[in-house]
Amino acid sequence: MVSDVVYEVRPGGNLGGHLRVPGDKSVSHRAIMLGAIAEGVTEIEGFLQGEDSLATLKAFQAMGVPIEIPSAGRVIVRGVGLHGLRPPNDALNLGNSGTSMRLMSGLMAGQRFDTRLTGDASLSRRPMGRVTGPLAEMGAVIETTGSGTAPLHIHGGAPLHGIDYAMPVASAQVKSCLLLAGLYADGRTCVTEPAPTRDHTERMLAAFGYALERRAGKVCIDGGGSLRGTSIDVPADISSAAFFLVGASIATGSDLVLEHVGVNPTRTGVLDILRLMGADIELRNQREIGGEPVAELHVRAARLHGVRIPEELVPLAIDEFPALFIAAACAEGETRLSGAQELRVKESDRIQVMADGLRALGVYAEPTADGVVIRGGRISGGRVDSHGDHRIAMAFSMAGLRANGVVRVLDCANVDTSFPGFVEQASMAGLSVSADRQR
Ligand code: S3P
Repeated sequence: MVSDVVYEVRPGGNLGGHLRVPGDKSVSHRAIMLGAIAEGVTEIEGFLQGEDSLATLKAFQAMGVPIEIPSAGRVIVRGVGLHGLRPPNDALNLGNSGTSMRLMSGLMAGQRFDTRLTGDASLSRRPMGRVTGPLAEMGAVIETTGSGTAPLHIHGGAPLHGIDYAMPVASAQVKSCLLLAGLYADGRTCVTEPAPTRDHTERMLAAFGYALERRAGKVCIDGGGSLRGTSIDVPADISSAAFFLVGASIATGSDLVLEHVGVNPTRTGVLDILRLMGADIELRNQREIGGEPVAELHVRAARLHGVRIPEELVPLAIDEFPALFIAAACAEGETRLSGAQELRVKESDRIQVMADGLRALGVYAEPTADGVVIRGGRISGGRVDSHGDHRIAMAFSMAGLRANGVVRVLDCANVDTSFPGFVEQASMAGLSVSADRQR
C-alpha cells in the first residue's frame, strides 16, 4: 500500500525570521530542457530538487544527456545539441508533473525516435488535447487515450512545420510546448495568448542565445537555429513563497522576510491580489539575475478584507489560489473569484477540493463553474483531504495559524513535488506543524 502523509497543525502562533524557499519549479524544468538540447555545458544554481523537476531531469538522463548534481541545488547539464537526444529504453514516467508532460510533448514531437510519456493517476486525468491538437496541426503524430489524456505515444520522424496559433486558454504550458516544437519546425511558429502568461521560456531561450520575436500578446520563433549552454540562477519560487505570504498576513504579530524570490511580472498576481485585500508586503532590493527579476519580500500581519478578484489577474496568480482562498477565509467580508475555470484541471479540481476543505473547517465557501465565493469568518479545527494536491496541502497548513482547534491535512506526500522540506521550513518560521507517515 502507498504510504500517506498526514500533517497535523496545532492552532495559533505566527511567522517570523528570514526564509529562502526552494527554487522556482517552472524555471527549473526549463533549465534542464534547454540545457539538454543546447551545445556545451549549462550550470544551474538554485535548482528545485523536488519530484516534478527531478522527473524532467531523469527523463533527459534516460535520453543520454549527462546531468550531475554535484551539491544541493547545483546541476551541471552537458548539452547534446538539438539533434543529440537518444531513444530512451522505456516510457518516460513524469509522475505528477503537468509541466514536464506538456512541454516535453513539444520537444519530443521534433525527434527522430518514438517516445511514450506516462504519469501518475492525477496527471493521467489532465487534458492533453490542448497540446496534442496544435502539435498535430504542425505535423506531429501523437496518440492519446480516447479521452485525450496520457499516456502519450509520440511518433518520431514526422516533419514539423510552423503554424500561427491563437490559444483558446491562457496557458504558458501550451505556449512553451509549441515554442519548443517550433525549434524543430520548418519555418516560423507563432503563438498568440488571450491574456499574459508566465514568460520563462521566452526569457530563457534568449539567455541560451536563441532569437525570438515578441510583440504584445504574440511570440514567434524560427526553427533551425541552435542554443548555447549558459549559467542559470534559479530564484526562489513565488508559488512556494505564497503560502508564507498568506500565513504571515493572517497571523497577528507575524514579521517575515522571504529571500531571493522570483518576481517576474507574469507571476506576481498573488502580490497584487493580497495587496488589494489589505496585505502589508514590501519588495526590497529588486534586481535582475540571469534575465529574471528577483527581490526580498517583507510581509507583516495585516487586517485583510474580502475583494472581487480582477479576472485579468487570474493567469498571473493561477497556482496561488489555494493559498489565496485561505486568505479570503480569514478576511473580513466576501471574496469573489470568477474566470478561473482552469483551476478545475490542475493537480486536483482546486475549486471543489478547496471549497470542501474550507467547509470542513466551518468556513462558508460556495463553488461556481469558474470560481468561488468565500465569506471570511472563524476557522475551526477539523480534517481536510488535500486529494494528493501539494498546493492544497500547504495552503490548509497555513489555515492552522487562525484555527481554534487542530487541523489535520490528509494525503500530503505530494508536497515533495514542489516543496521538499516544507514542514521543516514552516516549523522554523513558527508554524506548529508535524508530518506523520501512515501505512
Ligand atoms: C506552468 C504553467 C501553469 C502553471 C503550472 C506551471 C509552467 O500552467 O499552473 O503549475 O511552468 O508553464 P498552465 O500554463 O497550464 O496554466
